Amino acid sequence: MLSLVHNMTGSIFSLLFFSLFITCTATLEAGLYRSTCPSAEAIVRRSVNRAITQDPGLGAGLIRMHFHDCFVRGCDASILLDSTLSNPSEKENQANGPSLRGYEVIDEAKAELEFNCPGTVSCADILAFAARDSVLELGGISYQVPAGRRDGRVSIKDEPTQNLPSPNSTVEQLQQMFATKGLNLQEMVALSGAHSIGRVTRCSVFSHRLHTFNATHVQDPAMDLNFASEMKNNCPSITSAGVVSDNVKVPLDGFTPSRLDNRYFRNLETGRGLLASDQALMHNPRTASMVRRFAKYGRVWMPKFVNAMTRMGLIEVLTGTQGEIRRNCKIVNL
Ligand code: HEM
Ligand SMILES: *[C@@H]1O[C@H](CO)[C@@H](O)[C@H](O)[C@H]1NC(C)=O
Ligand SMILES: *[C@@H]1O[C@H](CO)[C@@H](O)[C@H](O)[C@H]1NC(C)=O
Repeated sequence: MLSLVHNMTGSIFSLLFFSLFITCTATLEAGLYRSTCPSAEAIVRRSVNRAITQDPGLGAGLIRMHFHDCFVRGCDASILLDSTLSNPSEKENQANGPSLRGYEVIDEAKAELEFNCPGTVSCADILAFAARDSVLELGGISYQVPAGRRDGRVSIKDEPTQNLPSPNSTVEQLQQMFATKGLNLQEMVALSGAHSIGRVTRCSVFSHRLHTFNATHVQDPAMDLNFASEMKNNCPSITSAGVVSDNVKVPLDGFTPSRLDNRYFRNLETGRGLLASDQALMHNPRTASMVRRFAKYGRVWMPKFVNAMTRMGLIEVLTGTQGEIRRNCKIVNL
């Protein structure tokens, strides 16, 4: 009897192991460029570290860029393509255009890679490496990135609108949107911890929470009162023409804005989440309990974040003979 149970567990284990094995490695492989371009990951890391030394915000930009890439047509570097005369690209979408930063870091790494090993390292892999290197620099968390993504040839201005979450989303909407990409509720919450770094560039993303919340509340009652008055200094009022000053730099985590840590979750507990979609994590009992756990135990959050980043990096990747290895990340090969 015991040996039967033992056997069954054994085969369930190997089945599980086997299926994990196929989903993770049949397509992408950590250390892929070891023989074809041995310095590939070091070249990206040097570009990222140089950039972050000058401006830590670029690390935030690169992590966000990887997210915005993976959620739109999979991690295929479609976010990096410039518009052409006949086709405005993802860069022009409101979700990216005015606020996404770090493109030059990718271009610099790509130029050096093309010099050292032409036509070998995809822009999509560079972006995944760059996000990982930023996580290490700003958070001290290291992990391996499976590589072998190929670059897409299509980028369409409107697609980010349906594929990226809105700062007004409810938990149910966030859950739904992440589920569409194969990520579960806990992965969604863990990834939201990225809002522990970087900034918001437009008042209009959160100012309705301060001035025009709803019929009974001018101000979002979920927002801490002191925090709300701090935020009103940044975004004083809304007129019929729109937000008065819509060109701001408000940190997503005012306490440790350049440190990727679990401070974001502690902020949510005290009503200091900047986006409505951040604070919404406290309105749902399941996500609220995850937030409390991550807030209390940074060491629980970190591996969950790394796992979720890795899984995000596998969304709808192009492999094998699909797509191409772009020569220049801004334009498709001729
Ligand atoms: C859960 C749904 C999410 C929503 C609604 C959301 C929304 C936003 C918004 C509105 C901004 C400010 C943009 C601006 O200034 O215009 C922002 C910034 C940022 N987001 Fe998210 N985001 C989400 C998830 C994520 C995820 C999964 C990541 C990465 C893993 C991420 C990383 C970042 C970073 C690092 C910044 C700061 C960027 C910088 O300083 O350049 N976000 N996000
Ligand atoms: C969020 O909602 C507010 C108020 O309903 C609205 O003014 C704002 O444009 C919305 N923002 C986005 C990005 O949908
Ligand atoms: C306004 O928001 C508060 C807090 O979220 C909510 O309790 C209330 O029902 C809302 N009022 C209206 C009229 O929507």
